[in-house]
Amino acid sequence: MPPPLSTRLKTLAPYPFAGLERRIAEMTAAGKDVIRLDIGSPDQPPAPGIIDALARSARDPTHHGYAGYYGRPELRQAMANYYARRFGVTLDPKTDLLPLIGSKEGIYNLAFAYLDAGDVALIPGLGYPTYAAGTQLAGADAYVMPLQSDAGWTPDLDAIPTDVLKRAKIMWLNYPNNPTTAIVSMAFLARTVEFARKHNLLLAYDNPYADVCFDGYVASSILQAPGAKEVAVEFNSLSKSHNMGGWRMGMVAGQVEAVAALGTLKTQIDSGIFRAIQDAAVEALSGDQEWLSERNAVYAQRRDMLIDGLRAIGCTIEAPRATIYVWVKIPPGESSSVDFCNRLLDTTGVSLTPGTTFGEQGDRYARVALGQPTRRIREAVDRLKAAEGRLR
Ligand SMILES: Cc1ncc(COP(=O)(O)O)c(C=O)c1O
Repeated sequence: MPPPLSTRLKTLAPYPFAGLERRIAEMTAAGKDVIRLDIGSPDQPPAPGIIDALARSARDPTHHGYAGYYGRPELRQAMANYYARRFGVTLDPKTDLLPLIGSKEGIYNLAFAYLDAGDVALIPGLGYPTYAAGTQLAGADAYVMPLQSDAGWTPDLDAIPTDVLKRAKIMWLNYPNNPTTAIVSMAFLARTVEFARKHNLLLAYDNPYADVCFDGYVASSILQAPGAKEVAVEFNSLSKSHNMGGWRMGMVAGQVEAVAALGTLKTQIDSGIFRAIQDAAVEALSGDQEWLSERNAVYAQRRDMLIDGLRAIGCTIEAPRATIYVWVKIPPGESSSVDFCNRLLDTTGVSLTPGTTFGEQGDRYARVALGQPTRRIREAVDRLKAAEGRLR
């Protein structure tokens, strides 16, 4: 018998997608064709030049050792150039940013750089599960900020109790938002920076969808807000922006002590990023970016197809202007988001993510991902429409 697991691990709720994953594996083993609109992962590959850069670098016999803790100077410079070009934000590549093994590890590790028992992290009522998991595993408390559906899915900062604010060290925000697809104005970002300054918070802004925008919308960086570099760090990633989810390349940028703290912590945890992936990331950030517009047009087409199919089964939807998701309000007669998604999966073989995966507030919602080939999306829409009578 192995020894009992740590209390820390035992008390952690399973990663929300693990259960769904098992259920779909069983259905697939039983011969059912499941269309996975629950997975938030791009289906398309990165541009060929990025793959060539990876292959070229991997062939160099000197590129297979440990690649250093802080990322190569060329990579850090490419990240700084990206922030300058894309957002007009000036970053010192030596001190203001740090490459990450995908942004998820940085999001998780930030909790360990700042939070002790008794400390609080402010977490959006609907959000990426790692904000809460990192907080809990670090032994700190999460305070859930409800997102107001009638105020563009933003939190009411003035409603956070004073005693919570006194204990709070980190505030997590994410726009364009997963899962609600909400976007925010620069005025909102500026207000959050002011709020963070007033209450001595580190504003941790998660921005992996900044380059997945449609209909002429251009997402901002928190670092564009006045004074943001003094109180905010931004997490960014090539997973969604450049279709490189499996490659694991992200970054954190902004508040200089926070970037340094994460770097120090990570020297104890990992040993850097494979050289070939760093070289490919330089190509991704510095090479031609035109292909991103074409890729985003494909997502927009899929979005429109899915909205059509989901409205046919009684869902209410606001067309998103960013992210790789559609956030749907389930039909009024449904008992819960989990029941709705289960029934849809059983009836049509189309898998959506129940809104509650991202927080209790998601109970009347489901998230639909755009990262499947267009022909599969078309098939999903056909299945939804065909099942319309049975679903209502
Ligand atoms: C809001 C948000 N943050 C962070 C991540 C993590 O991305 P990665 O670790 O691939 O950079 C995701 C991935 O789905 C996400 O949706």
